[in-house]
Amino acid sequence: MPQEVRGVIAKAKGEPVSVETIVIPDPGPGEAVVEIKACGVCHTDLHYREGGINDEFPFLLGHEAAGVVEAVGPDVTDVGPGDYVILNWRAVCGSCRSCLKGKPQICFNTHNATQKMTLTDGTELSPALGIGAFCDKTLVAAGQCTKVNPEARPEAAGLLGCGVMAGIGAAINTGGVGRGDSVAVFGCGGVGDAAIEGSRIAGASTIIAVDIDDAKLELAKQFGATHTINSSNTDPVEKIRELTGGNGVDVAIEAIGLPQTYEQAFYARDLAGTVVLVGVPNPEMKVELPFIEIFGRGGALKSSWYGDCLPSRDFPMLIDLYLQGRLNLDGFVSETIGIEGVEEAFHKMERGEVLRSVVVM
Ligand SMILES: NC(=O)c1ccc[n+]([C@@H]2O[C@H](COP(=O)([O-])OP(=O)(O)OC[C@H]3O[C@@H](n4cnc5c(N)ncnc54)[C@H](O)[C@@H]3O)[C@@H](O)[C@H]2O)c1
Ligand SMILES: [Zn+2]
Ligand SMILES: [Zn+2]
Repeated sequence: MPQEVRGVIAKAKGEPVSVETIVIPDPGPGEAVVEIKACGVCHTDLHYREGGINDEFPFLLGHEAAGVVEAVGPDVTDVGPGDYVILNWRAVCGSCRSCLKGKPQICFNTHNATQKMTLTDGTELSPALGIGAFCDKTLVAAGQCTKVNPEARPEAAGLLGCGVMAGIGAAINTGGVGRGDSVAVFGCGGVGDAAIEGSRIAGASTIIAVDIDDAKLELAKQFGATHTINSSNTDPVEKIRELTGGNGVDVAIEAIGLPQTYEQAFYARDLAGTVVLVGVPNPEMKVELPFIEIFGRGGALKSSWYGDCLPSRDFPMLIDLYLQGRLNLDGFVSETIGIEGVEEAFHKMERGEVLRSVVVM
């Protein structure tokens, strides 16, 4: 029997979101219905409602979530009713050219549920990142459900489903940060702070936070920044060189998505160092760099999608570190709110007041 539940819908470009009744079909082959416990408000949800991702309105927003599986389709064996899961937006296929090469974390053919959730008049919904989790229940592909230790509170655990994983993974998976490395992180929002946290747990000895907002820099220290630079009044490249014996950092992580900060990251790294772009640029942006510098400095210029994570490998491991007190997920939860609070949470995000507002169902 299809079920009617509450969900946060973006009906049209730029219009405030609203809570509507939505219809969840029973799970078909390869699908699962998940009862949502908590879901973080991410910048990408706002991008959807601004029409910045695509025009497939209405969107069912929310995608950084933890919950409990209620029911699964007939052929699903990996997860079952009662399992506590974090939802991921890259369910790997197992058979594309990347999966076959043993690199499922860069699967080129990730998938979502086949059936559609709808409004009560039958209008099909587009779930944000194939999830849609500002709702009581959602329908996803079973592969989007990653089982983790149920002792982790959902407000914190769900954040691994997007921004926090993207940041941690940018440092430890894409950037390969290791013991004794020096790291600079440009942009200290949820993603940048997660890159700082990831660098800390990987054993980096120097972690330099760069932002234009002093309050954000103060927060960055809580996650492990050893130095901070306000780049609105200090040249970050010069200062980073000064802090690293004149050399620059081993790994420079851009977590904003701007050409100017990408260039700063490029020049702030040591010879043979790595630049990681995790911030998302818009389609009009261009970067101009001296070609000889790209060659002469060696090293690597990399991009990081979802922190190059493999949810089945990374989520349970990071939740274990969290439960052992070695990963600070709680620090990202700025506030918990009800399902009606999403629109106001967007404004707090725009004003830079929160790392994450988390909807608790
Ligand atoms: N690659 C991925 O898989 C992935 C996943 C999630 C989010 N993202 C992207 O990561 C980026 C950051 O997301 P977030 O949630 O942390 O955003 P946010 O808005 O919370 O944080 C951005 C930070 O950058 C700072 N900033 C802005 N302009 C700056 C400048 N010129 N110099 C220095 N600092 C500046 C802001 O003060 C803020 O602290 C976004 O582009 C987001 O879309 C990428
Ligand atoms: Zn694949
Ligand atoms: Zn997100």
